[in-house]
Amino acid sequence: MERSVVIFNHPLIHHKLSVLRSTKTDSKQFRELITEIAALMMFDATKNLPLENVNVETPCGTAHCKQIAGKKLVFVPILRAGLGMVEGALQVVPTARVGHIGLSRDEQTLLPVEYYCKLPQDIDQRDVFVLDPMLATGGSAIDAIGQIKKRNPRSIKFLCIIAAPEGLEALKNAHPDVDIFCAGLDDHLNEHGYIVPGLGDAGDRTFGTVVKESKQESKKSLCTDAGERTFGTVVKETKQKSKKSLWIFASIAVLLCAAVFLCKPTYHYWKKHFQRKNHIGIVSKNNNSKNNGNFNGIDVSHYQGNIDWKLVSQNPNIQYVYIKATEGSTKVDHKYKKNNREAREMGMKVGAYHFFTTTSSARKQAENFISNAPVKDQDLIPMIDFENNRGKWSKKQIRDSLNVFIDIIKKHYGKDPIFYSVNSHFNKYLAQDFNTYHSMIGRYNKGKQPPTANYSIWQYSDRGRINGIPKFVDLSRFHPKYNIDILLLN
Ligand code: PRP
Ligand code: URA
Repeated sequence: MERSVVIFNHPLIHHKLSVLRSTKTDSKQFRELITEIAALMMFDATKNLPLENVNVETPCGTAHCKQIAGKKLVFVPILRAGLGMVEGALQVVPTARVGHIGLSRDEQTLLPVEYYCKLPQDIDQRDVFVLDPMLATGGSAIDAIGQIKKRNPRSIKFLCIIAAPEGLEALKNAHPDVDIFCAGLDDHLNEHGYIVPGLGDAGDRTFGTVVKESKQESKKSLCTDAGERTFGTVVKETKQKSKKSLWIFASIAVLLCAAVFLCKPTYHYWKKHFQRKNHIGIVSKNNNSKNNGNFNGIDVSHYQGNIDWKLVSQNPNIQYVYIKATEGSTKVDHKYKKNNREAREMGMKVGAYHFFTTTSSARKQAENFISNAPVKDQDLIPMIDFENNRGKWSKKQIRDSLNVFIDIIKKHYGKDPIFYSVNSHFNKYLAQDFNTYHSMIGRYNKGKQPPTANYSIWQYSDRGRINGIPKFVDLSRFHPKYNIDILLLN
């Protein structure tokens, strides 16, 4: 049978999607809508299930009926956000089993990182429905389906609420045998891998972990509340038997979710995810200054919030500060000017970095950087932050464009720039052609394993705590061969 890709075009789904997307929709309503949309989608997604004939005795005679043949279905939500779709799916097929796959996108590489996988034993005799509200780059869905395929299920279908064309294409290519159902197909992915117009971060909106930058305190309580609520509903992971009424199935979904959150790997993920995504000050081993390790410098952007540079300048470890200036051909970090001025007023050695994208011309990106980071405001050589390939440029296109960018930068600032990347991305795209430049490489691993890439500076933590900076901050240190001299512009 030919594989199907269904983009729903039903008034009820259109209407519910429009409410779901809105920033005015709170978590409670968001969860309800995800449930309702998932249930509506199931109607179509189950239409080809095999049937068998059965005779049923009614009070008035024998009815020749059809029932779904063989073992039933398995729903596999991709954690966290996929959990939101389970209840809707169970409303339609209450006897289905539920497996779980935990994946999170690494925010720098945008690649999925698996942290949990528990699937029913007899999955090889069942039809699997993978549930995840968002199909963005497609990485998570492709990876999850790859895991499930190793267990030889009868068939796999993928259901998402919103897909980006890039993710849909990638999933179609990677798994040509999987039927795909999307409640909506959107326009494109932005430079951070988010779907536009999309609905934002589905996991955060489902679980109420979205936080506003200015509300640091309420952020903490939001997060704590989520944790307390989660662990307050914990139950032992028992084999749940099928129940008759709807509300009991809703409870099963909640209980399963709580059990999954009890697992150690999930807890680690959860901790990491919230800390990194939302920069929430959860108390952890890593988040006090005693555990910062030996660092020589930091890099910041508007994500760090309002920085008190007077306090930061009193930190004797900090020899250099890189401040995000620009991104792509038009974006300017709205805190750049303030950060640059105030850090320099405090006598700190300051440089600017540009977030290089593969979605706009290198020349325009260089012009954007130069016009916003004047030479007179720089103590350090410029930094090119290149850490993802959203535009899916070829290696040659990347090399040529970076060379265009570097030429313009060199002429303007009079010195070679330094590269910033994460370890794997650097090895993939930069190591070969740009090995004569200095580089700062991000590799965390709790600071245990230095980069495998050649590095001049190792950014070993993204969870440093510095007095004067309200949020987590990236920390880095020189390779023993180098010191501040490699960074000085004059
Ligand atoms: C979101 C979403 C998908 C993934 C989609 O999960 O729920 O799983 O991103 O992105 P991709 O198609 O580019 O892989 P996220 O990693 O944010 O975790 P969460 O569900 O726990 O919020
Ligand atoms: N994950 C989300 O939750 N939203 C997006 O737009 C992309 C990935």
